[in-house]
Amino acid sequence: MTASLFSPMQINGVTFKNRIGMSPMCQYSSTDGVASDWHMVHLGSRAVGGVGFIMTECTAVSATGRISQGCAGLWNDAHVSALKPIVAFQRRFGAVTGIQISHSGRKGSAATALDGGSHLDAEDSSAWETVGPTSDAFDPDGTRLWRAPHALSVEEILKIQDQFTHSARLALEAGYDLLEVHCAHGYLLHSFLTPLVNTRDDDYGGDLRARARFLLETVKKVRAVWPVEKILSVRLSVHDFAEGGLTLEDTAQVGRWLKELGVDILDCSGGGAVPAARGAIGNRTAEQPEMAGVIREATGLPAMAVGGITDAAQADALIASSKADIVLLGREMMRDPHWAFRAAKELKVDARHVLAEQYGFFVGAS
Ligand SMILES: Cc1cc2nc3c(=O)[nH]c(=O)nc-3n(C[C@H](O)[C@H](O)[C@H](O)COP(=O)(O)O)c2cc1C
Repeated sequence: MTASLFSPMQINGVTFKNRIGMSPMCQYSSTDGVASDWHMVHLGSRAVGGVGFIMTECTAVSATGRISQGCAGLWNDAHVSALKPIVAFQRRFGAVTGIQISHSGRKGSAATALDGGSHLDAEDSSAWETVGPTSDAFDPDGTRLWRAPHALSVEEILKIQDQFTHSARLALEAGYDLLEVHCAHGYLLHSFLTPLVNTRDDDYGGDLRARARFLLETVKKVRAVWPVEKILSVRLSVHDFAEGGLTLEDTAQVGRWLKELGVDILDCSGGGAVPAARGAIGNRTAEQPEMAGVIREATGLPAMAVGGITDAAQADALIASSKADIVLLGREMMRDPHWAFRAAKELKVDARHVLAEQYGFFVGAS
């Protein structure tokens, strides 16, 4: 029997050996944005573990676009040099390599999640001024101290778009197969897209099209430097999970605009724009992965499903029922870097051909 989860797929010039992907996860293990040997082990071990697609964590387009001081970056040659061998190692074991480029917006200048994740004190020498569509703080009333961001001028918006383009060029140099623009979880691009945050009254605020402008202009510029034989993805919070926020219908429309600009696949996450929706990231177990199917159908674009996926049969069903083309696992992949092996065993698939040779020889068939 061949499970759908282990069927190959091609998008543009890139072939996936299976549909199992690792979701991007901040590792707080970079210095000045430079990836470390931790990344080699974190990403490399999943490649050895038979994962078909691996997304490097959200990687900032500038120092102030990071979430924390420990976050990865992609704005200079040192970043490229550190990432190159990590990309090469993953590819050697048959994984398609992706990187998510990002700007943290008003959720930046934070402590790492390991240190509580709230904003750094303004007096902290490593803190910086954050930016957003308006000067409204992420959580002005909360127990966490989220300071007011600086509302971006149009000139500053264009500068950040150029930073995304620069990072895209560097990702190409580092050798990635897939580039993802991060427009989810309340970070800068999502904060412009959602009506929960963007109340601007200039060309970058107003109706859905105007709120999508920052994203669409960025994607257009990035696509111009990202080769057509490679893959361009956008991660969206397909639902804001908060009253008055983005709905699936809104996201379907944004997806159609992205398709017109040459986006190849949509990575369907959710939540994160406002404190009320914080818990939505990864916690809507039954609901969120299914939403990928709605977006896939409405846009005609391939989709990645994510959120609480742990079980091989569930993952296989998402692919078999055409709700998703790739399933992404985050925390379960942390628990078990060899999840793909386990899934093959549970689904009774002879997966020798998709596993690293050294392991596949011994455990691929049973
Ligand atoms: C430690 C950690 C770090 C994360 N970092 C990112 C990130 O860099 N970019 C992103 O889009 N999502 C990030 N996420 C969200 C995951 O990619 C994923 O969407 C979420 O955890 C739900 O999937 P899961 O239930 O399989 O963990 C992170 C999640 C965790 C647990």
